[in-house]
Amino acid sequence: MEHTREKRSKDWFKDLEIYQIYPKSFMDSNGDGIGDLPGIISKLDYLEKLGIDAIWLSPIYVSPCYDNGYDIADYDRIDPVFGTIEDLERLRDEAHGRGICLIMDLVVNHTSSFHEWFRESRKSRTGQYSDYYIWKDPKDGKEPNNWASCFGGSAWEYCEERGQYYLHMFAKEQPDLNWKSEGVRKSIFAMIRRWLDFGVDGFRVDAISYLDKGDFCDSTNTLNAEGYALDMDAISNRPGTHAIIKDICRILDEYDAFAVGEVNIKKLSDYRDYCSEDRKEFKMAIPFVPPIVEIGTWSPAKMKRDIVASYETMKDDGWWARFLSNHDKPRQVSLYGNDTTYRIDSAKMLAMLMQTLPGTPFIFQGEEIGMTDVHYPSIGCYNDIDTRNAYRTALLEGKSEEEALRIAAAISRDNARTPMQWKNEEGAGFTTGKPWLEINGNYRTINVESSLADDESILSFYRKLIEIRKKEPCLRRGSMEFHNTGDDCIFAFSRMGYGKEFLVLLNFSDSPRRYSLPAGNWMSVISNGKRSAQESMVLKPYEAFLLERR
Ligand code: GLC
Ligand code: CA
Repeated sequence: MEHTREKRSKDWFKDLEIYQIYPKSFMDSNGDGIGDLPGIISKLDYLEKLGIDAIWLSPIYVSPCYDNGYDIADYDRIDPVFGTIEDLERLRDEAHGRGICLIMDLVVNHTSSFHEWFRESRKSRTGQYSDYYIWKDPKDGKEPNNWASCFGGSAWEYCEERGQYYLHMFAKEQPDLNWKSEGVRKSIFAMIRRWLDFGVDGFRVDAISYLDKGDFCDSTNTLNAEGYALDMDAISNRPGTHAIIKDICRILDEYDAFAVGEVNIKKLSDYRDYCSEDRKEFKMAIPFVPPIVEIGTWSPAKMKRDIVASYETMKDDGWWARFLSNHDKPRQVSLYGNDTTYRIDSAKMLAMLMQTLPGTPFIFQGEEIGMTDVHYPSIGCYNDIDTRNAYRTALLEGKSEEEALRIAAAISRDNARTPMQWKNEEGAGFTTGKPWLEINGNYRTINVESSLADDESILSFYRKLIEIRKKEPCLRRGSMEFHNTGDDCIFAFSRMGYGKEFLVLLNFSDSPRRYSLPAGNWMSVISNGKRSAQESMVLKPYEAFLLERR
């Protein structure tokens, strides 16, 4: 399949296999311990062989890195730590030369407090940038309302120079832009055009549900230990936000570019509002609904219900982004599988699920070799602002240091951000220097080099699955039907269309489960065990089959 700009067909984005790169942790080319653009270029062959059609880079723009690049200080410049604009041109061309699209992160809910716009805006209540951010007068000498930031603490920060508070739904170093300002709209739209002219193929659009904040009333949600309430729902998905997204996507459409929005899904119809064709907004959505780590609330039964519900909502009009991991979540094999006894089987089973559902699959770096959560010995080893805040909040709530560490580690975004494990050698083949974040100690056994050499590895399984998906339009575009298996842990669903019928069978548990195949003649296309499907069988822990009706 060819997806470069000249060769795009309608709905080209539905056939993509997207790989998310977290640039700081992917590949370091110069030994400073931080991944960079030349490092990414050196791994394009690897990605091409895996069958990747598009790479999405988490932000690489100039940033003081309070939130690892999601705090942008200059939208037009590459942070020198990652390389130069010439490196990015080379990455663009080398990727395009391999038929791989380049997708950038677009962060426009907020900028860094180091952005020139903010440095000017904070100086006075008049001037070109004075309305670029959300400034409010104190209320009774305190914050304008009781909103908490997503990262803990108040969402407001006082600024002496203006005698006003500014809003930050994330860190205080990430002031929210004021989208009511004509200047903001013009500046951001022009910036988007510059990147499209540069030749990027699309954007993953960050935290985009909150552009229109509504009327700034106090939240009635429960207050946290510091006396603030997190209420992302109140400011999500408002008409003003949808109007701006339409304006952004109209520009993207001129370039036939792709956009996946990271959006807040409160109810099923929100999916349609963001992704159905007539809305002319996103091509697909990455749901972001805090707390995104479903510890304690997740179960295979819930996952099944969610898949079916979102499928039914959009099957006639809309599309899905399929992913289990990203840079904000723990590793998928640790969260949804079993990262000890059944690491290999459960990683393969999760891969089978993602590659056989309708929707565009996203692979997060390292998932293809079954990388696991990291368990650092102390809070000092964690870099992520959200992890540190969770630790602080737990202590404020009276938890012991040990308990606070356990809580923070379980949700930590650093689980996904540890450096990519390329080789069994000091630095894991990621760096020859000191890595910016400590490498997971299991790189000795879990790494790309040994996975490439093993035909039974998780990596080989991904490669085979991707190949099958590319060959079978039924798996990409066909319809889907879930079967009632009478067992929450057994997933059985059919994919139908293009003259074929496939059956996917997964045991989402670490115990054997019985299942009877529907009548007919079934041939095994691929499985993570070494046996073929029998008519009535006991599925082994995390066993997974893709069968085809003959
Ligand atoms: C998104 C990003 C996350 C970031 C936040 C603020 O959710 O994925 O990493 O912290 O937005 O930009
Ligand atoms: Ca580097």
